[in-house]
Amino acid sequence: MKNFRIAIVGAGVWGDTHAAIYREHPNVEPVAICDKNVERAKALAEKYGLPRVFSSVDDLLDYGDFEAVSIVTPDFLHADIAVKCAEAGKHMLIEKPLATTREDVFRIVEAVNRNQVRAMVDLHNRFSPPFAEARRLIDLGELGTLQNAYFRLNDIKWVATDMLSWSASSSILWFLGSHSFDTLQWLFQDRVTRVYTVSNRGVLDTLGVKTEDTFLSTLEFSRGGIAQMENGWITPNANPCVNDIKCNLTGDKGMIAIDASNHNLIQFYSDSKVTVPDIIVRNQIHGRVKGFAYESIRSFVDKLASGEPFIVSLEDAARTSLAILAIMESAKNRMPVEIDYGPLA
Ligand SMILES: NC(=O)c1ccc[n+]([C@@H]2O[C@H](COP(=O)([O-])OP(=O)(O)OC[C@H]3O[C@@H](n4cnc5c(N)ncnc54)[C@H](O)[C@@H]3O)[C@@H](O)[C@H]2O)c1
Repeated sequence: MKNFRIAIVGAGVWGDTHAAIYREHPNVEPVAICDKNVERAKALAEKYGLPRVFSSVDDLLDYGDFEAVSIVTPDFLHADIAVKCAEAGKHMLIEKPLATTREDVFRIVEAVNRNQVRAMVDLHNRFSPPFAEARRLIDLGELGTLQNAYFRLNDIKWVATDMLSWSASSSILWFLGSHSFDTLQWLFQDRVTRVYTVSNRGVLDTLGVKTEDTFLSTLEFSRGGIAQMENGWITPNANPCVNDIKCNLTGDKGMIAIDASNHNLIQFYSDSKVTVPDIIVRNQIHGRVKGFAYESIRSFVDKLASGEPFIVSLEDAARTSLAILAIMESAKNRMPVEIDYGPLA
């Protein structure tokens, strides 16, 4: 199997996730970390033994001795970096969402295609055990034809108020809605054609984070399926699960009910709190990284090496960003919106 030298741009919370799996993947030599906050880059370099530190993407690309790059900057800062990396001939794992404007979505797709590089977007819910199993059962025909779905994917307030310094410049739709939308289009194996969304705000505004609290979206698929998607980041901080994940999928022959927040396998109690330790997303067993967040990144390398298609195609990720833009437009105007996929229709 081929080996890849890989660099990481963005040494924040999720850059750490990329570095952890690259350090242990047998086909990866992690060669560099780049962050405009050089102290953060140095800290990650030290933690994972990354040999080179850069504070700008231009300097990283001037060095250039690597084949692939992970782009792990805030949601609205992927496009310029992705286009530069594509122009430099680098394969890319881009964090979700691909981009947050229509122009940026098509700029990236065009640059990837013209430079004949490969790109995957880390829409990792496709690797989550219950959702991967749901897709397997759907493929076996156990549900018949999918008729409707309900997907609730929420975060506790802390994610917007404390974890992300840039939440007010993004949206829960970019941060989690991109996962829910992608999962639904992947399970229905169909295009969403029309969306109708309502939203509200006020809770986070009061806490000093100027962004919407919750979006409720109705999705219509081209073959008649319908789905309801809920995304908010105002569930209480005392919720022992950071993510609140519920999904029901109903076909004409069967139904699947998923509660991915409460795996009920382990709870931890102390005198002051109850927590549900993460054992499926980003955990470690005997010092090795496990969980589907790592599995998605591992799959990027595996498919890069084997030449097989990525589990998440660039086109699906591009359609997800275009759909989220339509959902935002619908929420703003309180009117249904037909999604314009342009050349990706
Ligand atoms: N797959 C998932 O479920 C998942 C989970 C968490 C975060 N993410 C995504 O990962 C991305 C990063 O999120 P995070 O939580 O790590 O954010 P973060 O704020 O912790 O880290 C982002 C880092 O990018 C750096 N940066 C910003 N602009 C830069 C530039 N031009 N050049 C180099 N570095 C730059 C910042 O200094 C910061 O250190 C986001 O797109 C987010 O949505 C994905």
